[in-house]
Amino acid sequence: MADERQRARRSCLSVPGSNPRFLEKAQTLPVDAVILDMEDSVAPSEKDRARAAVVEALTSGGWGERLRTVRVNDLTTEWTYRDVIDVVEGAGAELDCLVLPKVTAARDVMWLDQLLTQIERANGLALGRIGIEAQIEDAAALTRVEEIAAASPRLESLVFGPADFMASIAMKSLVVGEQPPGYTDGDAYHYVLMRILVAARANGLQAIDGPYLQIKDVDGFTRAAQRSASLGFDGKWVLHPEQVEASNAVYAPTQADYDHAELILDAYEYATTVRRRGAVMLGGEMLDEASRKMALTAAAKGRAAGLHRTRTFDPATDAAY
Ligand code: GLV
Ligand code: MG
Repeated sequence: MADERQRARRSCLSVPGSNPRFLEKAQTLPVDAVILDMEDSVAPSEKDRARAAVVEALTSGGWGERLRTVRVNDLTTEWTYRDVIDVVEGAGAELDCLVLPKVTAARDVMWLDQLLTQIERANGLALGRIGIEAQIEDAAALTRVEEIAAASPRLESLVFGPADFMASIAMKSLVVGEQPPGYTDGDAYHYVLMRILVAARANGLQAIDGPYLQIKDVDGFTRAAQRSASLGFDGKWVLHPEQVEASNAVYAPTQADYDHAELILDAYEYATTVRRRGAVMLGGEMLDEASRKMALTAAAKGRAAGLHRTRTFDPATDAAY
């Protein structure tokens, strides 16, 4: 995976593209990514206005290091082609990714890839720079998630869409992102999250959890986020300023875990190169090549989250060979 594809996405803030006040507010929040939405948070009568407002917001700047993404309408509507053309022709150089909702097969992603390539060619934009994030949000998409994940080199992430997904499978609940009432012995989303995560990782993509609509319930948000973060998900959509800090914290490693991961990398590097051993003891812990791989992931997430190590490795006292 190119470095560009590994950017932090701990908190991905979705804001209605038709609301300039929300777009302005988004620029003040410490989120890793913004999703300027032209789909379900924009009324049908406002779609044209949203396109213009999104182009204006992108070209006016002020987004700092935040990843700038735009969610276009899904391919069953009459809006998608114009969404893509207007936004990329109007602000392609200021756009990092397009989010394609309600993807149901690889061909949806391929369509967007080809259209992007044409627009880039015609407008002198860097070929292939704009990424794609595919939302997996119905039963058909989940059955084809492996082929969707492999559909284009532009893909950067798979994003779970719990609201549409719950509707699609007729889950007996109206509280989006929360466990359905009566399901007490497990996580009703585990199967879905795991399939998305495995398909994403098999193709070098990030996996992003979807929104939690009870925006006042930060504890509930945190609980839901911890479930997907502990499986390996890289971040979650947020809808409200109060969810941002929780998301940034949950999807980054703790300082202690980050320090530990960097220590493992140093200890293993020292063992294999200086001591020429494939295994080493770090405190009471036996490390081998697989430990290095696990530590690489935690170290990469920590660095992307801006953590700095607070411990350095001392071969004389930290490790035994
Ligand atoms: C997001 O798009 C969702 O459907 O949850
Ligand atoms: Mg949706």
